[in-house]
Amino acid sequence: MIHRHWRLIAHPEGTRFDDAIRLEEAPRPDPQDGEVLIRNRWLSLDAGTRMWMTPRTDGYQPPLPLGIVVPGQAMGEVVASRHPGFREGDWVRGFGQWADHSCVRPETSGLTVLDPRIDDIRQHLGALGMNGWTAYAGVAEVGRAQAGETVLVSAAAGSTGLLALQIARNLGCRTAGIAGGAEKCRYLTGTIGVDVAIDRRADDVAARLAALGGVNVYFDNVGGPLLDAVLPQMAHYGRIALCGLIADYEEAGTIVRRFDQILMRRLQVTGFFSPDFAHRGSELTAILRAWLDEGRLTMPFDETAGLENTLAAYARLFTGGNLGKVIVRV
Ligand SMILES: NC(=O)c1ccc[n+]([C@@H]2O[C@H](COP(=O)([O-])OP(=O)(O)OC[C@H]3O[C@@H](n4cnc5c(N)ncnc54)[C@H](OP(=O)(O)O)[C@@H]3O)[C@@H](O)[C@H]2O)c1
Repeated sequence: MIHRHWRLIAHPEGTRFDDAIRLEEAPRPDPQDGEVLIRNRWLSLDAGTRMWMTPRTDGYQPPLPLGIVVPGQAMGEVVASRHPGFREGDWVRGFGQWADHSCVRPETSGLTVLDPRIDDIRQHLGALGMNGWTAYAGVAEVGRAQAGETVLVSAAAGSTGLLALQIARNLGCRTAGIAGGAEKCRYLTGTIGVDVAIDRRADDVAARLAALGGVNVYFDNVGGPLLDAVLPQMAHYGRIALCGLIADYEEAGTIVRRFDQILMRRLQVTGFFSPDFAHRGSELTAILRAWLDEGRLTMPFDETAGLENTLAAYARLFTGGNLGKVIVRV
């Protein structure tokens, strides 16, 4: 049987993914002993994958070798299993491939059987997926956000940022988000109930940040010039939960000019990585699931139909075209 997959053939430049990633037809993989074959229904497109596509060797994981089928989180149904923990028909999520099917070893792919009794099964890639754990760990544990404190989030209308803001709100914090565009800012204040939304494209960002009166926790998804703008607006003893550096994934070396403010304001800056929290997946999922069922957590989807349209969907993460979680319906 033939299926399709996306192969990395060169290091992409900017968002010109067409030159670097190619859709191919290939024989559908057959699961070997200990493996599971999944018919992918949705792919989760994640900004961090962009960094692995560069040749840089100082990232949190080695670069992807050229010629590899692009790896990524996927969700779907088991169509064949040679592993005792998984049965045909199970709904599963794990680290698979950008392809019609993923063939994985559960032990190395984080493959998890999902609860199909949920209003929108896509939430297993949204509020209950990797972005949910990341957001919870960043706000509650790395940032140690306390009720009444001001929590600021960048890339606030994207998947990780939207979840971080809602988690901060649910913990009783005052919330502020930075996003690109008036429509996203209206969504944040109108639909999500964020207290302050700052439009990084149209507003006087420095003035709007200063008006916050001191940021206790900055959940940063972006790095770059925004981080420099936020540093002098941190409250004394503030915490920066450094989640991502999407402004800088193409090249190594984020330049921070206002490093001095870490001393002046006695700040703590902590980078964190969601796989470090994977062993607590079921505990974190239970917290998020309770909020989802109570209507206190939501995730809109930026869904693209068709595996063949994956690259256009992926580019939206870097042009800011997405509101919510970017997924592909295979
Ligand atoms: N540490 C971890 O374990 C972990 C786990 C998951 C994700 N992350 C990180 O979290 C961040 C968000 O990832 P995501 O997959 O959830 O994507 P996302 O937030 O859904 O989408 C990315 C958003 O980033 C903003 N953006 C893109 N380029 C930018 C630039 N040059 N300057 C400022 N903003 C820019 C855009 O929003 P606006 O145009 O609206 O600003 C865009 O919509 C990434 O940095 C990712 O690597 C880290």
